[in-house]
Amino acid sequence: MPRGLFITLEGLDGSGKTTQIKRLAAWLKQRDPAEGVVLTRQPGGTVTGDRIRSLVLDSRSIGLAPMTEMALMFADRAQAIAEVIQPALDAGKIVLCDRFTDSTEAYQGGGRELGSAPVLELHRLLCANLQPDLTLLLLPRLDFSLARARHRNQHVETNTGLNETRFEQEQDAFFTRVWQKYHEIAARDPARVLLIEGDLTIDQVHEQIVAAVSKCLRTLAPQKPA
Ligand code: TMP
Repeated sequence: MPRGLFITLEGLDGSGKTTQIKRLAAWLKQRDPAEGVVLTRQPGGTVTGDRIRSLVLDSRSIGLAPMTEMALMFADRAQAIAEVIQPALDAGKIVLCDRFTDSTEAYQGGGRELGSAPVLELHRLLCANLQPDLTLLLLPRLDFSLARARHRNQHVETNTGLNETRFEQEQDAFFTRVWQKYHEIAARDPARVLLIEGDLTIDQVHEQIVAAVSKCLRTLAPQKPA
């Protein structure tokens, strides 16, 4: 069956992926205004997913067991695949997803030390092992990312009352494990994962992303519906 293109963005909190995904969506729409581009995020992106997002990111959700946290991430993802991602791919659209199963592997598998195996197994069981065509993994310096994420979320809470700081309150050791697991994923799957690291400007990161997405579009173009 013809399929659209599934692109995920990954990285630590404060890595700039939300800025980059919006720029990529704008670039794709400018390149071909007729192209269907669906922008979504995890957790969230559906009504059910937004409710799971509030629960899992709110710092008042005290004492969530790591397994519960992982199960909630997969409940969100299964819903997003059923409701948003798979229908869009079946319709030949380009789906841009801000975080996917690599986040669960990095944060719950690495950060919470549950390991990769249960994450990959749950992905097979609950997500039909759906794999992105391309994953853009942004890993600027760990200290910069964390400082930016913590500052931004405080600001958001002051202005909107939205509390999404549960993960940012983790210690640096947690994020070091997340960082290491992301590197492990990139090394394991270089054909899918483009690792973008170092002190790059927003424009430089965007250029690397555009080059990778253009290549992917050229490769998959013949499979798309007329
Ligand atoms: P973000 O949407 O602002 O990137 O924040 C989502 C937070 O949720 C971020 O700290 C990473 C975390 N997260 C997990 O721990 N596991 C997951 O599977 C996903 C999708 C996100």
